Amino acid sequence: MPSLLQRGWSWLRAPANELAFAMRAVLRPSGRPAQLPHEAKTDAFSHLDPARAQAAAGIAAALAERFDLAALAARSTQAVWAGNLQHLACLSHLAAGLEVPHGPDGVVRAVDAGCGDFHYATALQRWLSRHAGLPRPVVLRGIELDGFVPHRDGSRRGGRARAHAALAATPGSEVHFQAADMTGLRLPEQDVVTAFFPFLSSYPCLRWGAPLSRARPRRFVQRAVATVRTGGWLLVVNQTAEEFAKLQHLLAGEPVRLLARRSWLCDLVPWHAATQGQVGSLWLRG
Ligand SMILES: C[S@@+](CC[C@H](N)C(=O)[O-])C[C@H]1O[C@@H](n2cnc3c(N)ncnc32)[C@H](O)[C@@H]1O
Repeated sequence: MPSLLQRGWSWLRAPANELAFAMRAVLRPSGRPAQLPHEAKTDAFSHLDPARAQAAAGIAAALAERFDLAALAARSTQAVWAGNLQHLACLSHLAAGLEVPHGPDGVVRAVDAGCGDFHYATALQRWLSRHAGLPRPVVLRGIELDGFVPHRDGSRRGGRARAHAALAATPGSEVHFQAADMTGLRLPEQDVVTAFFPFLSSYPCLRWGAPLSRARPRRFVQRAVATVRTGGWLLVVNQTAEEFAKLQHLLAGEPVRLLARRSWLCDLVPWHAATQGQVGSLWLRG
């Protein structure tokens, strides 16, 4: 829970966030080509005690085999690797015993709203494809409002997102990135719409460096629901129980019902203390 001082300080950033976003949106700088750096995974679980680290390595190996993570393992930092493992472990539990919705042609069409740099594109694609039953073709699109945020290597968020999307694609499946405002997009109906850590309140939005004027939680959630086809899923991961309560409130009048809810607490990531309180929820569109 941020202190009063932290909240106050974040508000001082609001004008700078607006200005920087407006300039990026007008100039649309392409930046350097995005490279996806690689790190060995040998000490990926050094934040855990030896017994737990061994167990975590076993879980990682099982996830890597089940979800075909070889390409990601060969081209990711430890942080990106761990983040993908966290989402796969938690997604698998959240939807245990359920089949991912798909079209009559067997293809799963999905949109991730507010995908940031889409560093978890592989986890999402693999889960949609392989969660239950035979692997299915997937058409996944990550949508991000602020695609031109600079990265420290000189590339831009959108460039990195495209690189992560390309890495996640498999023969027969497509993964795309689009820089756009989800609240203004008219997309074809999807089998699954996901949102990982959407801004439902002002503090995380300001801390992230995003423009508060564009954080419209009700519209964002309504658009996300409207994009899901009848019988499809809305999947949301929130930072805190408070945010999950806000999500429930925003969804109260929408044609969805809660299918499952689960903590996103996970010690596979070195920042596991920060995962305390994170909540994933799965909603069925009626
Ligand atoms: C907390 S970040 C999470 C990013 C990513 N999902 C992840 O888990 O790393 C929320 C993201 O949503 C994006 N966002 C906020 N409002 C949006 C909108 N209306 N349309 C598209 N993206 C939006 C923000 O720019 C930001 O990158």
